[in-house]
Amino acid sequence: MNLSVHPVSRLHGEITVPGDKSITHRALLFGSLSKGPSRVKGFLDGGDCRATMDCLRALGVKIEQTGADELVVHGPGLHGWQEPEDVLHCVRSGTTMRLLAGLLAGQDFFSVLTGEAQLRRRPMDRIVQPLQQMGARITGRQGGKLPPLSIVGTSLRGIEYTLPVASAQVKSCILLAGLYAEGTTTVIEPAPSRDHTERMLRARGVSLESRGRTHILRGPVLADLVRLDTVVPGDFSSAAFFLVGALLLPGSEVLLRRINTNPTRTGLLEALKSMGASFSLLDERDEGGEPVADLLVRAQPLHGTEVGGDLVPRMIDEFPIFALAATQAQGFTRVRDAAELRVKESDRIATIVEALRALGARIEARPDGFDIEGPTPLRGALVDSHGDHRLAMTLAIAGLLAKGETSVAHAESIADSFPGFEERLHLLTEGAWP
Ligand code: S3P
Repeated sequence: MNLSVHPVSRLHGEITVPGDKSITHRALLFGSLSKGPSRVKGFLDGGDCRATMDCLRALGVKIEQTGADELVVHGPGLHGWQEPEDVLHCVRSGTTMRLLAGLLAGQDFFSVLTGEAQLRRRPMDRIVQPLQQMGARITGRQGGKLPPLSIVGTSLRGIEYTLPVASAQVKSCILLAGLYAEGTTTVIEPAPSRDHTERMLRARGVSLESRGRTHILRGPVLADLVRLDTVVPGDFSSAAFFLVGALLLPGSEVLLRRINTNPTRTGLLEALKSMGASFSLLDERDEGGEPVADLLVRAQPLHGTEVGGDLVPRMIDEFPIFALAATQAQGFTRVRDAAELRVKESDRIATIVEALRALGARIEARPDGFDIEGPTPLRGALVDSHGDHRLAMTLAIAGLLAKGETSVAHAESIADSFPGFEERLHLLTEGAWP
């Protein structure tokens, strides 16, 4: 599907965004490890979370949709999953595959995890190696480098593992295997990554201690996880598109309601602040163990900046939209230490550079990031999102700024994380056609 976008003068109004993707995946998985019903309110009804739901159903977990944005997971408990009759299809969701692999390694049955071509290109040795060290019988294509993964569940032992790159998916995979492992599982991160797994496991009664970047889980966990309802806050990574759109379009003012402001997720705000932007966080509160606020954003001029180091994992999904902001900022912006972008839904260094260049931006790829010189006026063109949801939404926002029509190819992937993106776009641009 091609998404066609035309320029607008500004963004104006208030919206909510769909539930957080990372928290929805975990609410489904952890509900399945407790016994009895747990409610997931405000869940993300997107492709990636649907993949997790379908895999869990294939493992014998009953999941009922009880309202437009509400689910009930009927958990069979830590040892209640059943051998799936067929391969488990993770579609395009890396989180589904990596978190499930950790949980399946310690079951007493056989399973296979596969996905679409996009996911089958993504590295799995980062989970296969530590899981094998724990005693797991897991392998995949090219000696465990790539999906599909096959897993013969077996008994596991705890290990101490230092992650070579900051990754919440890898950290979570190992900690989840640790639930079933004999002894202590310790994961040491090179830099803080999103901490939803730690927060949610602790809230469900798991003995998991975090000392800075070191996470220690004492296994095996014998009791089922404590049953807990989850109210999923709005996804900061989805809000980011409208946040940057409002910053860049003169005269804009947008209020984004009920957004998760977990500091392991909001690195983008820090990067934009270093470019001269300011934001108002209104009504800051805690909802179900996660910080939440309403974010008020007004258009502001930006200047170039440098992003690298520990900030990178805290804004890892926001680099496509951040790159767009940098094309409109005065001066040079440099992104470094972000080689991880090469193994996301697309090689985001290559695809961001290709697409923003096609729109007229001055951007150069680097092995671990990119350099951008701004500001450059953008002109509409046919651009390829390569089926990468975050690139597709970035290009749609770029189309609001660009002269003429912008057509975003393969934009159906937007529904992987943000069903209703176009409706929000229309809501905020009503009456704003120049
Ligand atoms: C996620 C972690 C991140 C992120 C992905 C979701 C998660 O991946 O890019 O969209 O829910 O744990 P990495 O932790 O591998 O960087």
